[in-house]
Amino acid sequence: MTDKPQRVRKAVLPAAGLGTRFLPATKAQPKEMLPVVDKPLIQYVVEECVASGIENIIIVTGRGKNAIEDHFDSSPELESFLESKGKSDLAELVHNIGNMVHFSYTRQKEPLGLGHAVLVARELVGNEPFAVLLGDVIIPGSRPATQQLVEVFEATGKGAITVEEIPREKTGLYGIVDVEPAGDSRWGKRLMKIRDLVEKPSPSEAPSNLAVTGRYLLPPEVFDCLERTQPGRGGEIQLTDGLRLLAKETGLYAHVFDGKSYDAGDKLGFLKATVEIGLENQEFGGDFREYLRSLKL
Ligand code: UTP
Repeated sequence: MTDKPQRVRKAVLPAAGLGTRFLPATKAQPKEMLPVVDKPLIQYVVEECVASGIENIIIVTGRGKNAIEDHFDSSPELESFLESKGKSDLAELVHNIGNMVHFSYTRQKEPLGLGHAVLVARELVGNEPFAVLLGDVIIPGSRPATQQLVEVFEATGKGAITVEEIPREKTGLYGIVDVEPAGDSRWGKRLMKIRDLVEKPSPSEAPSNLAVTGRYLLPPEVFDCLERTQPGRGGEIQLTDGLRLLAKETGLYAHVFDGKSYDAGDKLGFLKATVEIGLENQEFGGDFREYLRSLKL
């Protein structure tokens, strides 16, 4: 009999990149702290972890990223100020931000690539499976993409990454997977075995139109793969290259998730997220919809 896969308790949120696509906004401010409607990007990501049953979040930060730690720290002065003004609902909201889950931080001294950022978290993760969520990709919705990956891991014992269909002409912007059917009736066509991954291929060279979306569920063996990964595209240690080794050595699934992702580290992706999440807002979503209609585009 095989052992039951370990429970997934930890998540790593790499947030040490320079955010050059969002300059000048990110010159002196972490892009993960840009607010979409009323919350910084990284809070959406943390909330997805909590909704997926994660108990420990490890945030990989770097120079100029202190605002992230401050955001999830306690703020007794602000809380007492709000209480003294009779705004206890806001005081509670502020209090809850730092108490959603247990946070730890580690630092990537130089932004040497996403794969390197994950490797920096090795000690804090230890010998157990963990989720990776990019700090600038948000996936709203009631069935979190990470929870969907946790279900795959806890049922199969194998790592899995979230993918979504994109128009073929856009393959050059994403990591693209080369896949074959997994043949597992529990997920049907949504679950595939990864044969290989290619970073940003041209449309004619892309093995599929399934793009890696920024959510990963990885076994601890990935750390050995990342140790052996040489700098690749852009001179960075790419997570994609580490995952190519993992797919060959232990197997790795691609899961077509049920939902929609926004790459909010990109200006257009950020605007789309702001509009769509704004439209869902209970307080002013209706007024916002009317306003957009009045623009008569
Ligand atoms: P991106 O490639 O989107 O981030 O990485 P970037 O390098 O900050 O952005 P651009 O391309 O220059 O605009 C996805 C996530 O991985 C983190 C980033 O902070 C982001 O949340 N990352 C990236 C690291 O933590 N370390 C790195 O060396 C690279």
